[in-house]
Amino acid sequence: MTSRHDPRLKAFASDNYAGVHPEILQAIAAANGGHQTAYGEDVYTEAMGEVFQRHFGERAQAWPVFNGTAANVVSLRSMTAHWEAVICAESAHINTDEGGAPEVAGGIKLLTVPTPDGKLTPELIDRQAWGFGDVHRAQPRVVSISNTTELGTLYTADEIAAICSHAHDLGLLVHLDGSRLTNAAAALDVPLRALTTDVGVDVLSFGGTKIGLLYGEAVVVLNPAAATGVDYLRKTFMQLSSKMRFVSAQFEALLSGDLWLRNARQANAMGRRLAEAVGGIPGVRLTRPVEANAVFAILPRDVTERLAKRFRFYTWNEATGEVRWMCAFDTTEADVDAFAAALADEMPTTHP
Ligand SMILES: Cc1ncc(COP(=O)(O)O)c(C=O)c1O
Repeated sequence: MTSRHDPRLKAFASDNYAGVHPEILQAIAAANGGHQTAYGEDVYTEAMGEVFQRHFGERAQAWPVFNGTAANVVSLRSMTAHWEAVICAESAHINTDEGGAPEVAGGIKLLTVPTPDGKLTPELIDRQAWGFGDVHRAQPRVVSISNTTELGTLYTADEIAAICSHAHDLGLLVHLDGSRLTNAAAALDVPLRALTTDVGVDVLSFGGTKIGLLYGEAVVVLNPAAATGVDYLRKTFMQLSSKMRFVSAQFEALLSGDLWLRNARQANAMGRRLAEAVGGIPGVRLTRPVEANAVFAILPRDVTERLAKRFRFYTWNEATGEVRWMCAFDTTEADVDAFAAALADEMPTTHP
């Protein structure tokens, strides 16, 4: 079979534009053949559970799901009663990019807070952590943060510890949307548990797709007292994969060695390289700190239009013209250099 696309072409739109890491494809192939019990009672899912425990501690329990939106909805629903609500940044993926799934499918009220950089702080949490016992207000129950954030920024372990401690003091639980947790841990050079289990995160949505899986994310309950009914909710929300061995085998391949770290380091290094290459081009202004694999910038709109015909990427903010460029595990130095050269080429030249 020949490809219908040019496999040499790379985009800077999202890390999920990338294909599947070859070691993940091998793991899927190795899991093929013969029969295994469906719905997660298979040897791959058992091994996957152990691998998650090695990273996140003995109390951790992982449930594979199909995508990140579902990981968030199942996680948050398992942490809240019908009258309870989730505090999150206004820019959080659960608020901006999930088609309303937490509210529509999950029936979960989101209490949002504007932030300068996509990050909550104890002070920002307090803007919504009030009205306890007031029957007229959805009761705050969970604080949800994303690491890395939707604006490419990072929470350090200390920042997450401060959030968890504050939330727990208020009787709130903490959920972490770790769609790019691997990028955050690689950037900070810490183990995955240093940003989660060790600092008090209760439930984690762990990302696989953006870091090299064909598909698959996981709900990871770190504090068993914080979540109920994940087994049932996963089915209710249509996330119970019958051929689960193929999702689980991918996670085992990602997490049993250093594949997650290699992939995340590569994506982050390419983010840094891209920032350095384009940051020096007159007329291009980087708008946010580049802390992992995402670069945000403002450039002339006509340049954006021309460049977008050569490389796919997103305009993040139509009002300001801010764009987002994202590097993936398979972005190479040559890809970054070609993109930066194309950008320089599209910029208007000023003649003396
Ligand atoms: C922060 C964050 N959370 C969750 C997701 C998961 O989304 P999906 O449902 O597309 O897998 C994404 C994907 O872009 C994301 O960036």
